[in-house]
Amino acid sequence: MNEIPARPNNLDAYWMPFSANRAFKQAPRMLARAEGMHYYTADGQEIIDGTAGLWCVNAGHGRREITEAIQKQAAVMDYAPTFQMGHPIAFQAAAKIAELTPEGLDHVFFTNSGSESADTALKIALAYQRARGQAQRVRLVGRERGYHGVGFGGMSVGGIGPNRKQFGALLPYVDHLPHTHAPEHNAFTRGLPAWGAHLADALESLVALHGDTIAAVMVEPLAGSTGVLLPPAGYLRRLRELCDKHGILLIYDEVITGFGRIGTPFGAERLGVAPDIMTMAKGLTNAAVPMGAVAVHERIYQAIVEGAPAGIELFHGYTYSGHPLASAAAIAAIDLHRSDDLPGRARAIEGYFEDAAHSLKGLPNVIDIRNFGLVAGIELQGRQDKPTDRAVRVFQRCFEAGVLIRTTGDIIALSPPLIVEKPHVDRIFGVLGEAIRAEAA
Ligand SMILES: Cc1ncc(COP(=O)(O)O)c(C=O)c1O
Repeated sequence: MNEIPARPNNLDAYWMPFSANRAFKQAPRMLARAEGMHYYTADGQEIIDGTAGLWCVNAGHGRREITEAIQKQAAVMDYAPTFQMGHPIAFQAAAKIAELTPEGLDHVFFTNSGSESADTALKIALAYQRARGQAQRVRLVGRERGYHGVGFGGMSVGGIGPNRKQFGALLPYVDHLPHTHAPEHNAFTRGLPAWGAHLADALESLVALHGDTIAAVMVEPLAGSTGVLLPPAGYLRRLRELCDKHGILLIYDEVITGFGRIGTPFGAERLGVAPDIMTMAKGLTNAAVPMGAVAVHERIYQAIVEGAPAGIELFHGYTYSGHPLASAAAIAAIDLHRSDDLPGRARAIEGYFEDAAHSLKGLPNVIDIRNFGLVAGIELQGRQDKPTDRAVRVFQRCFEAGVLIRTTGDIIALSPPLIVEKPHVDRIFGVLGEAIRAEAA
């Protein structure tokens, strides 16, 4: 087997996603290996993973059980189509997921990413409304600052300006609720903020505007990628009630909150409000093989599948839906989720994690700290002339000191693997605090 060099000779060919390609290629940061709570650079430097990769390696890196399951499956059957035929491991993976999802969300459609899950969920919502005789419901509602990946559906329903503005008109018939970030009321809140449940009432205004043409509302239970925006206490319940009142489906994008991140298998449980449709990806396979999924309520499956004439019921799917290697990884990852009790581990350490996050209060330029489960957001006052610059420089300082953090604008987001222990938490926040101080000096 050819060894891949730790430092490639040619950096030109790879157009890196969501990256400053020119800056990166002048000063590349290469990760070469990962194990447990750590990455290792090509030079052998140990980097503690404060972000579980991209919110996805919930069980920690290099889990032997997952690696072996993938290897075994690759040797047995590398690939088989799932259009009009099947293979047992995809059905097993779906059944495992259905055991974890909230009651009633028992049917699972496979995708390969969070973005594909978002677009799939929106398509299922539209198909459902049509199947139940409500074909006029063609509008989709998202939320400002929401992130649902980069497909046209998710991008349109999502509400992150920079992700949209290069790409023209996007989908028609999409509207947005206001975001829930209100530091003027909620700065330095621990857990869910008390102020802001009424922000869900904006759905009433959209119904007043659009009548019975809204098919679905899609939100992240806790918005991660946009900089850790928490749902105010009571907000999701209000949204649920309004959706029910007006015949609108509620879709949760659980790509980040799924698989233990906030102390229960899915965010819906911890937050006490279930959706009709739920997307997932990332932690589903512990990120070892790309896979996403959409879980739908029995009622929706029945309406679309049982209600259809003979033949294909939903004209949607991917070549790699239910891919054997991904299915093997998902089964092994869900087994680990249970045997390691990852949600329980997250809950056990969340108080310590919260205290560590809030210990940064009072440091220069720290204007808000917020947290829930094993997620924390630390918002910095951006430089007036150079937004994002302060956070990027804090990121660089942390990386050089051996800690991986994530930044969005001038917000630092932390979401370590759920196997994180107290000394890791101390190190992550210790190094971050030093970096924030140094950046102000
Ligand atoms: C809530 C949410 N939805 C969708 C996505 C997109 O997932 P992917 O990058 O796998 O397409 C992400 C990625 O961070 C996410 O956080």
